[in-house]
Order: sequence, then C-alpha cells, then structure tokens
Amino acid sequence: MENTLAALGRLGIIPIVKIERAEDALPLGKALIAGGLPCAEITFRTGAAAQAIQSLSSACPELMLGAGTVLTIEQAETAVRAGARFIVAPGFDPELVDWCQARDLPVLPGVATASEISAALKKRLKVLKFFPSEMLGGVAMLKALSGPFVDVKFVATGGVSSANLATYLALPCVYACGGSWMVESKLISGGQFGEITRLAAQACAIVRQARPASA
Ligand code: 3PG
Repeated sequence: MENTLAALGRLGIIPIVKIERAEDALPLGKALIAGGLPCAEITFRTGAAAQAIQSLSSACPELMLGAGTVLTIEQAETAVRAGARFIVAPGFDPELVDWCQARDLPVLPGVATASEISAALKKRLKVLKFFPSEMLGGVAMLKALSGPFVDVKFVATGGVSSANLATYLALPCVYACGGSWMVESKLISGGQFGEITRLAAQACAIVRQARPASA
C-alpha cells in the first residue's frame, strides 16, 4: 500500500482547512473527494478541528486526513486519537518531530531557513513544509535552498494559489503545495461546497498539466 507521504506527493496539493463548525466537515470532505482531491489538512486553529477530524476519519476513510498548525504534543495526541494520519507544523519543533517519529507518524515540520533545514536533516527528514513560502521569496528562494540541500523536498505553503501553483510544481524540489484557496473558511461556513469541488478540480487539473509524467 502506498504510504501517506508518497500519496501526498502524488496528489501534489494539500488543501489547508480552517473549520469553525464540526458539522461542516462531512460536506467538505465529500466536496474535496468529488473534486478529485481526497486530502485535507485540518488545522488546529479552531476548537472544531479534533471533532472535524474524528467525523471525517470515520465517514470518509478514503480521505487522506492530516492535522495542521500542530503546536504541541498534546494537540498531536488529540489529532492522532481523532484519526489524523499525518502531522503538519508551521515551525520546526524537534520534540514534536521526535514524538511523531517514535510512532512512525509522517510529520511535515515547517522550515524557513537553511539552519532549520539542517536541523531537520539531523532528524532524517527529507520532506519539509516551506512556510510561509511566498513571503520568504517563493520559487526563487526554493531554487536557492535546493542548491545546497539537493535531497530535500518541500511542501510549499503560504501564498500559493491557482495562479502560481504550476510555477511551484515545475520545480524538482517541490514535493507538493499546501494551500487554503480551494477551502477558504467563508466557502465552508457559507455552505458553498459546489464551489469547493470546482476549485479542487481546477487545482487537480493544474497538477496534471504541471506534472504530465505522473498524470
Ligand atoms: C498554512 O497554514 O500553512 C497557511 O496558512 C496556508 O497558507 P495560505 O492560506 O496562504 O494558503
């Protein structure tokens, strides 16, 4: 069976979700699946995150479900109990990484500098979240960083949209991109699940075009 990280790389996009009401989780998951993007990173930026993960993991097992904005080991524990299959953090927290690695749980810690990448390499991590990507210099910065760090792959996140997704995916060092544009909070709270499906399908079409070999 394909492992979680490989599946994320194949999909090429991780929708980053901030959900206010857990009851919106199910229609959201179905909308993403209908758009051909069976993946969601539910961020611990709201009190509904754990319950949303819980209901999605039992109702939509085909959804690749992760927890984002994980700042503490307690949140990681809660996320895993709820059914999260991978952990994403905005920064590089060695203790959180250790906790995940001890449980064979895929973890994508955020890095923004060469020093943080070096620290992540010490943990034998090869796929890292690059955050906040556009604000750090985006594609140009990733090209510069991948000079010395030849084996590192990045999940570029922060300021990625349908307008620049293809440019990111064209870089060999870009493993996938994370983004909230197809699952914006106002679309979720406004019940605009058809629009989420449309934007997810559009994002998948961009991935297919940018990576024809893996389509
Ligand atoms: C994240 O949590 O990684 C970012 O908030 C996502 O960035 P975006 O909202 O610019 O896509």
